[in-house]
Amino acid sequence: MKALQCTEFGPLENLRLAEVPDLVPAAGEVVIEVRAAGVNFPDALMVQGQYQVKPSLPFSPGMECAGVVRKLGIGVGDLRVGDRVAALLDHGAFAEQATASADRVFPIPAEVDFAPAAAFLLVYATAWHGLVNCARLQAGETLLVLGASGGVGLAAVQLGKQLGARVIAAASSTAKLDLCARNGADAGIDYVSEDLKTRVRELTDGQGADVIFDPVGGDLTEVALRSCAAQGRLLVVGFAAGAIPRLPTGLVLIKGCSVIGVQWGEYARRDPERYRADMLGLIERLALRQLVPHISATYPLQRGAEAIRSLLERRVAGKAVIAL
Ligand SMILES: NC(=O)c1ccc[n+]([C@@H]2O[C@H](COP(=O)([O-])OP(=O)(O)OC[C@H]3O[C@@H](n4cnc5c(N)ncnc54)[C@H](OP(=O)(O)O)[C@@H]3O)[C@@H](O)[C@H]2O)c1
Repeated sequence: MKALQCTEFGPLENLRLAEVPDLVPAAGEVVIEVRAAGVNFPDALMVQGQYQVKPSLPFSPGMECAGVVRKLGIGVGDLRVGDRVAALLDHGAFAEQATASADRVFPIPAEVDFAPAAAFLLVYATAWHGLVNCARLQAGETLLVLGASGGVGLAAVQLGKQLGARVIAAASSTAKLDLCARNGADAGIDYVSEDLKTRVRELTDGQGADVIFDPVGGDLTEVALRSCAAQGRLLVVGFAAGAIPRLPTGLVLIKGCSVIGVQWGEYARRDPERYRADMLGLIERLALRQLVPHISATYPLQRGAEAIRSLLERRVAGKAVIAL
């Protein structure tokens, strides 16, 4: 089978398409014939050796896929060969076959295509965990989403709206904000041409945002914290801008607000039953089209490096997908 392989940590362009042996599932695993794989920011970090986990070389990037179950390992009871599924992986989705632990594989209904299923799990799971489990977002609260047209950002916009919040999207261009509006955002702030804090104040009658979803980091996080309401919650989701900010904790004290780390992967390991229930609930919303991933670009496997590069260059709205 063909796999896009990373043989040494470094530039994305080092990724090479290779012919490798067919996969064999270990106990508790399945082999999936991959039809589509979602592209995520951590793929870029992993290939460059900057992710918290460094896989042994060579490896294929890709943390989520959708496809058809082709082989079952010993002890797999709930899945059958031929099942259409979506799966979360540590890595390995950018290949014609991927192995996945059966507890991270979710059947998808016939009406859900492979591409949206592959673009769905990781970002919506992160947004759900952040908004529901960490922030306990309530209907009627104001949610500010930074990087709102990106993968986790747009998922947070859609979910926030469904949970009954008033959603303010913040992004770097009018085109990105238009996409957020089409996905349910009530208001938009262009943080390149507008002052984020001033605009949040204007849009919230001086109160600030109750919950802030921040996958961007860098200088924006402190401005966001200054835009937070008293007793608000700032969700630290990621650092797409590169720099990990240091925050003035005096502001946290004065506002009585909370700064909460959103670590979705760790939560899935710590509380597997709740995590599985969350995932099944999200897939139900996907099947009902209550949640619709926005796929702005599709790449063939051999152009996987380009797909990851487009994320680093802020060119992806919603999600990019590798189609096989
Ligand atoms: N905590 C978790 O469990 C978890 C799970 C998944 C992802 N993450 C993290 O969340 C972050 C976003 O992931 P994603 O998949 O949503 O990425 P994405 O689709 O690329 O979105 C990131 C957004 O950040 C903004 N951004 C600002 N400065 C940027 C820069 N220098 N380079 C790239 N983007 C920049 C961009 O929006 P504008 O151009 O509008 O500013 C972009 O849309 C990453 O740090 C990722 O590692 C965390």
